[in-house]
Amino acid sequence: MELQQELKRIERSAVQKARRAKTNDAVAKLRAETVGKKGSLGSMMRSLRDLPKDERPEAGQRINKVKTKIEAALVDAVKRLDDARELAELEAGGCDVTLPGRWNFPGAAHPLAQVQEDILDALKAIGFSVADGPLIEHDWYNFEALNMPPDHPARDMQDTFFVADNVVLRTHTSNVQIRTMKKRKPPVRVVAPGMVFRNDDVDPTHSPVFHQIEGLWIDEKATFADLKGVLKQLAIKLFGADAELRFRPSFFPFTEPSAEVDVMFRSEKRSGWLEILGAGMVDPAVLEAVGYDPDEVQGFAFGLGVERIAMLRWGIDDIRLFYENDLRFLEQFSGR
Ligand code: PHE
Repeated sequence: MELQQELKRIERSAVQKARRAKTNDAVAKLRAETVGKKGSLGSMMRSLRDLPKDERPEAGQRINKVKTKIEAALVDAVKRLDDARELAELEAGGCDVTLPGRWNFPGAAHPLAQVQEDILDALKAIGFSVADGPLIEHDWYNFEALNMPPDHPARDMQDTFFVADNVVLRTHTSNVQIRTMKKRKPPVRVVAPGMVFRNDDVDPTHSPVFHQIEGLWIDEKATFADLKGVLKQLAIKLFGADAELRFRPSFFPFTEPSAEVDVMFRSEKRSGWLEILGAGMVDPAVLEAVGYDPDEVQGFAFGLGVERIAMLRWGIDDIRLFYENDLRFLEQFSGR
């Protein structure tokens, strides 16, 4: 009976203290004083030895029951303190859920990359595959194989950066067409995007580095009519379903006949025919240079400037904006 009362007292006092504990330290101290090895229940366990043998099991069970209850109260106390701390931290201003979210800047494709992708998508859809080639190029691939022998006046059309004798920064991506034809037998249907270089002074419409995309289609009977069909598809993709094209006779050393191609452009600021690309039937001299037989195969090529298309599409009037990496400019093309 005496034991029973003592246990009741310990339990009541411990549960009460646990409920009131204000710190984790206080809970730890309470644990040590009660259920810990040197705590009150521990010493009661040890004093069981003084009881008659037959009373020991029941008394032991009673002590253990109280121990379980006190332990549960201690667990509750720890949880209560943890919750309270978390709430206090939130309320103390760790997080103000009424503030606007943090701004983030997911990347977006550069406007030139967007235009390039659109052009490549349109051409891939009609069977072209993408080819790549060197920016620093031997004279032969950039000029000679394209029917521009040394000292030919046509070379003046493309002011050239020379790296060494007979080595140039490519003035167009036509070098890729030559390299592709040298490597592969016809039929060939490739499109070559990439950087090109001309020794031009920088102004609103000129940059010594810009981007071109050239297409080449060679097989037994690729005709000028096929060229018109391909360019029509491209124009529809770039300028909409009602895009109109106009072909004007022109001259390129590597194509015969050659044409400059205009698109009818209608916007609030201006409307009229605007030149967008050069094209023509590949000159037999080019086919011969790469080892094709002009009596067996024929085809067409076309080339356009990515910057020019981007400027037309978005009404941009200064080519330099593409290269300055000014976020105020670039963000306008992020699609947000
Ligand atoms: N290579 C020409 C240029 O850079 C563009 C072009 C390509 C013209 C193919 C006709 C045919 O000016």
